[in-house]
Amino acid sequence: MDVKVIRKDFPVLKNTNVIYFDNAATTLTPNQVIFAMNEYYEKYRANIHRGIHKLSEIASKKYEEAHNEIARFLNAKSEEIFITKNTTESINQLAFSLYFSGYLKKGDKIVTTLLEHHSNFLPWLRLKKLYGIELEIIRPNEEGIFNLDDFEKACKDAKLVTIIHVSNVLGSITPVEKICKIAKGYNALVHIDGAQSTPHMEIDVKKIGCDFFSCSAHKFCGPTGIGILYMKKELGEKLEPALLGGGIITKVTLDDYFFTKLPDKWEAGTPNIAGVIGTGEAIKYLKKIGMKNIENYERKLTKNIIEKMNDIPNLEIYGPKNIENRTGVIPFNFKNMHPHDVAGLLNNLSNIAVRSGHHCAMPLHTNLIKRANGTCRASLYFYNTEEEVEIFIKTLKEISKLS
Ligand SMILES: Cc1ncc(COP(=O)(O)O)c(C=O)c1O
Repeated sequence: MDVKVIRKDFPVLKNTNVIYFDNAATTLTPNQVIFAMNEYYEKYRANIHRGIHKLSEIASKKYEEAHNEIARFLNAKSEEIFITKNTTESINQLAFSLYFSGYLKKGDKIVTTLLEHHSNFLPWLRLKKLYGIELEIIRPNEEGIFNLDDFEKACKDAKLVTIIHVSNVLGSITPVEKICKIAKGYNALVHIDGAQSTPHMEIDVKKIGCDFFSCSAHKFCGPTGIGILYMKKELGEKLEPALLGGGIITKVTLDDYFFTKLPDKWEAGTPNIAGVIGTGEAIKYLKKIGMKNIENYERKLTKNIIEKMNDIPNLEIYGPKNIENRTGVIPFNFKNMHPHDVAGLLNNLSNIAVRSGHHCAMPLHTNLIKRANGTCRASLYFYNTEEEVEIFIKTLKEISKLS
């Protein structure tokens, strides 16, 4: 894996001299993805599955190829993969669907955790607030590590367990395979929010053993506007989709409708065709580098950056101490400084992009980290370098003098 060569694929890295450490928010796009999407607009712009003309045939074929690529990326079948707008929409659709289908009813229990992004918290909190569904929230320790006994107790009478795979705040990795096993022992369905895991590690939904899995293409070098919802085939067939419209039915009468086969049943309306094609290309790009190589490279970079950050006075770092339990998402604060001020200084002094605030995880910040103003968050990807880390550390040392 040659990072210098890889970096040449990313126009933003070529056109600006940004040190981009905001990869948990969104990632940069390589030329290969941009070209594939442009090709759709320039050479075969047409709707899919609707025309019998040549352009529609090409567009349909390319869309289906990309759909299959996405499925293989998660080790799912194409009929188990539904395209949405983002992780947020995938989870909202799932919540609506489980409620519309009568799977979740008043008095039923959902188990979730304190680490959740608002996307995997609010749709379930709404079911509690409006429809009397119980929500049990499991707390990890300060580092974001769970005690599995808590799941063993909570899952006993649960209908659904919905958990984050990698925390977008702490970078902690949740042992989803073990939790699935526990939940399955009590016949609960399991949904995994994979927005922060899919970009950084090999994902195998069958091995994990979950029923549902959500992620966003823009977090793994794909375009914005593409989300993925994986659903086991038998559930996709059984459940009522949240969205109804064109392309999903075999027959409509004045008082009934009949669904077509999977995955079309779950993809109502004209999809983001260029976006799906771009996502397929992003996956090919990642596979060429190798997900294992990406994971190993990022782990080394993360270990190095954390070791150096640990030596900086007045700097607090949150998340797992053991590097094996985390990814390259690193939240931190300087004592007595507002995270927005720190992010502003990193930007102004060295053109370093990080995120500051609550990172759409307010319950986590208020109940676990207990920093009312949130945190600063550096988040790495495979195109980041040791040289960038050096500049980041040097700038933090300068900021430390102000704290
Ligand atoms: C863990 C997690 N879940 C869900 C989301 C929501 O993703 P999106 O904004 O693509 O819907 C994010 C985004 O940061 C995330 O980090």
